[in-house]
Amino acid sequence: MSIAIAIDGPAGAGKSTISKAAAKELGFIYIDTGALYRTVGLAASRRGVEPVEGAEVNSMLDEIKVELTFNENGEQVVLLDGEDVSGLIRTPEASMMASKISAVPAVRAFLLDLQRNMAKTDNVIMDGRDIGTVILPNAEIKIFLTASPEARAQRRYKELIEKGMDVKYEDILDDVKTRDYNDMHRDIAPLKQADDAVLADTTKLDLQESIELIVNIIKERS
Ligand code: DC
Repeated sequence: MSIAIAIDGPAGAGKSTISKAAAKELGFIYIDTGALYRTVGLAASRRGVEPVEGAEVNSMLDEIKVELTFNENGEQVVLLDGEDVSGLIRTPEASMMASKISAVPAVRAFLLDLQRNMAKTDNVIMDGRDIGTVILPNAEIKIFLTASPEARAQRRYKELIEKGMDVKYEDILDDVKTRDYNDMHRDIAPLKQADDAVLADTTKLDLQESIELIVNIIKERS
């Protein structure tokens, strides 16, 4: 039987970096479900489809194909109609589009089986917003990974400045807060801690300490 570890939490808590490192250390497959919503968001942007509930999004979902694969390094690759869009979905615009389109029930239904099927055959660490509450309610271990909005915005700011991008801390903090609000207040599968999830707060921890915290939580419980 395969083991599933669900890691949920707000944007910028370091979920993907931490989950990826923990998966490597524990020999699990890491699945970043945010990439799937970003891919659907990209499809909508390309077609000029508004990211709201309705016929336009529904017919787009009938036409597109989203697949999750892995490259030779074991890294996740997302395909939109066969095209590798893993890099294209990482812009701030794609983040905002993903946040909006992920509130559309038909989009969540469209991506449900894809996510569940991944956990059927392999030992996975899956990160997202509703993994412990909706996608894998029977996951063996559930972690809610968070940090203060200011700490998350500061990390993101540093990352973008290091990439040479011209950004303002205040704009990033606003973005973080808007996405938190969208993710927590949508009607369907809102971001919230599962009753049986362990809370991991990384506000005061650096990356290495955060990875250790998560690996320890997993080791203590498995
Ligand atoms: O984790 P991320 O920033 O790549 O996610 C992009 C958006 O997708 C985010 O605003 C919320 C949404 N999302 C979701 O609704 N459910 C998930 N399981 C993962 C992401």
